[in-house]
Amino acid sequence: MINDHHTPVLLNESLEFLVADSNGIYFDGTLGFGGHSDGILTKISNEGTLVATDVDADAFDYSKKKFSSDKRFKSYNLNFSQIDIIAKIESIKFFDGIFADLGVSSFQLDNASAGFTYRSEAKLDLRMDKKKVITAADVVNSFSEEELAKIFFEFGEERNSRLIAKKICERRKEKKIETTLDLSEIVSSVTPFKLRTKTLSKIFQALRIFINDELEILKSFLNKSVELLSSGGRIVIISYHSLEDRIVKDIFKYETLDCICPKDYPVCKCDKVPRLKILTKKPVIPNTDEIKNNVRSRSAKLRAAERI
Ligand SMILES: C[S@@+](CC[C@H](N)C(=O)[O-])C[C@H]1O[C@@H](n2cnc3c(N)ncnc32)[C@H](O)[C@@H]1O
Repeated sequence: MINDHHTPVLLNESLEFLVADSNGIYFDGTLGFGGHSDGILTKISNEGTLVATDVDADAFDYSKKKFSSDKRFKSYNLNFSQIDIIAKIESIKFFDGIFADLGVSSFQLDNASAGFTYRSEAKLDLRMDKKKVITAADVVNSFSEEELAKIFFEFGEERNSRLIAKKICERRKEKKIETTLDLSEIVSSVTPFKLRTKTLSKIFQALRIFINDELEILKSFLNKSVELLSSGGRIVIISYHSLEDRIVKDIFKYETLDCICPKDYPVCKCDKVPRLKILTKKPVIPNTDEIKNNVRSRSAKLRAAERI
């Protein structure tokens, strides 16, 4: 399914892992433009339920309208880390499948007004949830050189983080940094031409992760999800960069362990109970056809696990 706003990534693979019970209750934490939700609704029966969330108001409004006539569909304009609260509101004890397709949609990336792209002029914002107070402009105009370098290094894995942070601090003394192009121009001025696109996407990614607290929110969502899965229920996560993928991999791995005692303990004293069985030994990635048709799928990695 391709729509004008976003082409769902690894759609068949996601549904294959996620929907094991067609009468089940499912959660799509990243509703977006409804590509995966549409697939879930097609696969579940009239007895099934899909609860979906998105922090982005535009995506949420679009998809809420799109599925408005489907009684099996419930939606919330909330962060997926509030899955426990949503479950309470819906009187749901356990989900049979929990899904998230992380990051931003093509609509958010392509639309200058959404402020996520460094390619066209827009206010330097990068908030997915516009109710949040701090924007990317606030960060680049007020954080110290060390703090900025740390954000670029930790969340963008950018080697030139110190030099870029230094240049930002010099330039903001002359003029406030207000737009995406203001920032792109400063980053480009200290980056060799052939590395510009890569560096710009790393710097924007780092700011986006920081502004939206994406990594901590992902950890909280995954931990709550394990609690909220029914026995035999599935969790399927698609990530687009190594920092997210590592979190998914590590939390899944931890949940498979039956002992976390230090190696030199002669007997186990931890009472750790494994709660997940991993279904994807290696992450599932798009095939060459999918990448050819949707270049944004190229960095996708899908991991799936089942609640024991
Ligand atoms: C890659 S898109 C999802 C696209 C969707 N699967 C589809 O096929 O249309 C990611 C979506 O997740 C939303 N999002 C990202 N982080 C979120 C979070 N923590 N809570 C809720 N929504 C989030 C973004 O606003 C965006 O709309």
